[in-house]
Amino acid sequence: MPTPHIEAQKGEIADKILLPGDPLRAKFIAEHFLEDAVQFNNVRGMLGFTGRYKGERISVMGTGMGIPSISIYANELITEYGVKKLIRVGTAGSINPDIHVRDLVIAQAAATTSAIVRNDFPAFDFPQISDFELLDHAYHIAKEMGMAAHVGNVLSSDLFYGGPDGVALGKLGVMAIEMEAAALFYLGAKHRVQTLAIMTISDHILTGEVTTAEERQVTFTDMMKVGLETLIAD
Ligand code: HPA
Repeated sequence: MPTPHIEAQKGEIADKILLPGDPLRAKFIAEHFLEDAVQFNNVRGMLGFTGRYKGERISVMGTGMGIPSISIYANELITEYGVKKLIRVGTAGSINPDIHVRDLVIAQAAATTSAIVRNDFPAFDFPQISDFELLDHAYHIAKEMGMAAHVGNVLSSDLFYGGPDGVALGKLGVMAIEMEAAALFYLGAKHRVQTLAIMTISDHILTGEVTTAEERQVTFTDMMKVGLETLIAD
C-alpha cells in the first residue's frame, strides 16, 4: 500500500537502496547506473527508481535534507516496503585538518545534536553506528578504486546555519559535519536492518576551501559507484 510520502505499491522497491539527499541525484543515478529503471515515487518531487545494477535489483531515492526528512522516508522504506540495506550518499563539510575536499568519508558512527535517541531512551547515550559488514565492503571497494577514503565519526547536525559548535568535535577526531547519518543508523538499530552513510567532502569548514561543480560531479560519481558496489557485495 502507498504511504503518505511514497506512492509505490508493495514489491516496487528493492530490498537494497541508495539514498542521496537530492532527488535529482536519484534520477541521475537511475539514468547513469541502473538498467530498466522504473520511477516509483514522485510525491513531493522525492523521486525514487528501481532498476538493475550488474543484474541485481536496486532502488535509489532522494531523502531531502536533515534528520526529520530522512527519518520519514527511511521509516517507511523499512517498515512498509521491507528494505534491508540502506546507504546514504551525500556531502559533508570537513572539520578536520587531515580530511580534505573531494575525500570520501565513510561514517563508522555519528554524533548528533538531534534528540532522536533521547526521545526513545532518555537514560542512555546510545552510540549511532553503521553496519560493520557494509562499512567493511565500502572501505575496501573505495580503496581498490584508489579513492582517498577515511573511516570514522561524523556529526549529524540539525542546523546548517548556526547551532552548537560542531567544529569543537574535530578535536575528538570527528571528521565532518552532515545532517542525516545518525538518524539512518538509529533506525537501522531500531528495526535491525543494515545502514551506512558515505559522504564526499564538499567544503572545508576550517580552511574555507570549496569544490567546484565539476569536481563535485566527478567525486559524486565515484561515491555512487562505491555505494552501488557495496549494496551488491556479499
Ligand atoms: N554542514 C552540514 N552539512 C553539510 C555541510 C556543512 O557544513 N557541508 C555539506 N553538508
